[in-house]
Amino acid sequence: MTAPGRALPVVDFAGFAEHWNRRPCVVRGLDEFGTVDVYELYARIGAAVRAGTHRRPDDVKLFTAPPGPPDLGRLLPAAAEPDFAGYAARVSAELGRDWSFVLNSAQAFSPELYRLAREVLLRLRGTADGLPAGLSDCFLVGGSYATGPTRIHKDTADVFLYVAQGVKTMLLWPYEVLVDQAPPDSDPEHNFVPLKVTPDEIAAEPLRLTGGPGEVLYWPASYWHCAESDGRPSLSLHLATHRYRDLAPVWAGAFAGAGIGADLPPHWEVSERALGGETLMFGQQTAAAATSAVHQWSLARHSTANFQILPDLSPRSGSEPTARRARAVQRFPVSWAVDAGQPEELIVAANGLSLRVASQPATIELLTALASLEAGAALDLAPWSGPAGLLGDAGTVLAAAHAAGSVTLG
Ligand SMILES: [Fe+2]
Repeated sequence: MTAPGRALPVVDFAGFAEHWNRRPCVVRGLDEFGTVDVYELYARIGAAVRAGTHRRPDDVKLFTAPPGPPDLGRLLPAAAEPDFAGYAARVSAELGRDWSFVLNSAQAFSPELYRLAREVLLRLRGTADGLPAGLSDCFLVGGSYATGPTRIHKDTADVFLYVAQGVKTMLLWPYEVLVDQAPPDSDPEHNFVPLKVTPDEIAAEPLRLTGGPGEVLYWPASYWHCAESDGRPSLSLHLATHRYRDLAPVWAGAFAGAGIGADLPPHWEVSERALGGETLMFGQQTAAAATSAVHQWSLARHSTANFQILPDLSPRSGSEPTARRARAVQRFPVSWAVDAGQPEELIVAANGLSLRVASQPATIELLTALASLEAGAALDLAPWSGPAGLLGDAGTVLAAAHAAGSVTLG
């Protein structure tokens, strides 16, 4: 569905690469979103808020004008509210005004959603633009409003919006069109910028991106936007991937971990020999250790497609040291690389869990085979097994992937 006269393209995900990071569109071919029971997930997060067990209360926000009551749990679904329409009617009656909930980190409550969203992002990794390095996050938006909860703004994230219920319309403007309204130091990707104008005050006609149940809308980080609705309840699932990643604190942490910033021993200042030899050696070792630390951090991120807040993926049963095959629970179950700081080591990561092993040809062969597995595919482990089970680091790597929930062993 698109507004007459301003038709936005409808593209299949297979041909999406040319729109990725460039133009808003309706995306077809992401049918996996349809497997998510969005209201059930919304209610599950609501139940955690009600029970006081939600680990990140700041992830749950209610938007109303004027601000609503602070007791958010009461305004989230109760166990006896089985459908979204009934729930939304109850909240609308209770609040007597437009409202919407935004529930961030939704993937933390659903391994299925995490794996599905990761898979969508991994499919973009191979495009010319690749996957941005910033955080990935899924969030739910449920509400009943005519004008969206936030005014015109631009985010630092590209967004896929799956409409679960109702109709969602995004009003969109290319960055250049409203750049005069933004602070002079803002740029198309690296800032969240709220504007003080309403759509009525803007001469330029917005692009209207509209979707009904089952449709997926996409817009890049560079587009200004705000939401519009027909006033009836709507519920949507958003997959956001941020363009911006500040690496300064990552490197600062790595250098601190490697000894820079720690108290240096007093003899460092006393002799030419110390200055000429030991100091340089210390610097080299520190740089290599910091490089290794950042590389390991980046591999861990790579393995999650940049999701940082994950669901509990730990398996119910223990790993099998005598396993004969490994089956991938998800596509690309491991990420691995030769350590940039210490080339005699390999870094291995699975769902954010990372480790190092010695760089050995047999281990590299195993990692290469594992890393290319499609979801559900199995790898015969005979080449890495002896009479007593898995050999050396093969066992270490597979036990870690099993613990991270990316493979099963049997
Ligand atoms: Fe936004």
